[in-house]
Amino acid sequence: MTLRHMTCIEDLRQVARRKVPRAFFDYAEAGSYSQETLHANRGDLERIKLRQRVLVDVSQRELATTIIGEKAALPLALAPIGLCGMQHGDGEILACRAAQAAGIPFTLSTMSICSIEDVAEATGKPFWFQLYVIRDRGFIKALIERAAAARCSALVLTVDLQVLGQRHCDIRNGMTVPPEIRIGNVIDMATKPAWAFSVLRGKRKTFGNLAGHVKGMEDVTSLAQWTASQFDPTLNWKDVEWIKSLWPGKLILKGILDVEDAKIAAKTGAAAMVVSNHGGRQLDGASSSISALPKIADAVGSEIEIMFDGGIRSGQDVMRALALGARSCMIGRSYIYGLGAYGQAGVAKAIELIGKELDVTMALTGTRSLRDIDRQVIAQL
Ligand code: GLV
Repeated sequence: MTLRHMTCIEDLRQVARRKVPRAFFDYAEAGSYSQETLHANRGDLERIKLRQRVLVDVSQRELATTIIGEKAALPLALAPIGLCGMQHGDGEILACRAAQAAGIPFTLSTMSICSIEDVAEATGKPFWFQLYVIRDRGFIKALIERAAAARCSALVLTVDLQVLGQRHCDIRNGMTVPPEIRIGNVIDMATKPAWAFSVLRGKRKTFGNLAGHVKGMEDVTSLAQWTASQFDPTLNWKDVEWIKSLWPGKLILKGILDVEDAKIAAKTGAAAMVVSNHGGRQLDGASSSISALPKIADAVGSEIEIMFDGGIRSGQDVMRALALGARSCMIGRSYIYGLGAYGQAGVAKAIELIGKELDVTMALTGTRSLRDIDRQVIAQL
């Protein structure tokens, strides 16, 4: 199957599953523990039915918008993904280029393979940088300064990962960076030559933002162990003030799922919040993102811009989230499948597919502009 034959995100997923070594495919794919929340994210989206409206002139449809004041061709941004450059060599640079060509924001993860500087050097426009707060606050200050020096236009502070939810497959697969030399991993990689070639040719093989800056990062042991020892479990609302005082640009708080937290977040002066349960990778048993969204939008939607992630696989899903109060959505796995399958062209394809689906969904719900999308579009919850 070639790129031309890709009809939907699931097609890209099937190709990525064949091309990307199992340890990395599973890492991106998994949820935590029993994956209840992972499945609820998709299940609850699918249960929301849209109203089919007819005989409305939908010849002109407008999908462009702004996200935190930045022009965007679609109400869509690429979410931060750890180890993106292990799905495909230089994955962060390729995904950033695809997002910029499509006119939407790209978010670089703290836990990326290519560094902030690598991506800034290889791409033309500002991107967003996602921050994980580790115990060494001097390092965090320096990291924020590096993001500012690289002209990142927003800082995305992840607030739902002070400790890591366990993903069983990472333990079973011996998921380390670079990959653990186990016989199973070696055989698996030997059967994925295109992947191996791209990763060997890539700029880096370990965490680009951390290696050389944080002790012990040169020979990363298990990601889970490193996270447990370095991520700061004391992180609290006061730190948000501290981070805001260091960061000259716009701040986005990612990982809000509760109305009480949303109310506090709205008062921090952040430009936006992302309603998210980290793609079902953190608190297993938490509600789906889409079921949390309308309550949060009702409570704080007039005070702070609301973004959404959690299970978006299509333009129809974007429509559902916009209808329930989001102004834009982030996609994670949906673009990672494209990256693993076809590199930059695959990410471009994922964005294009979702954009086209949203366009047709707008037409078939009698919607001409994103501004017209509200709960009227929903047939039943
Ligand atoms: C990191 O963000 C992860 O979910 O693995």
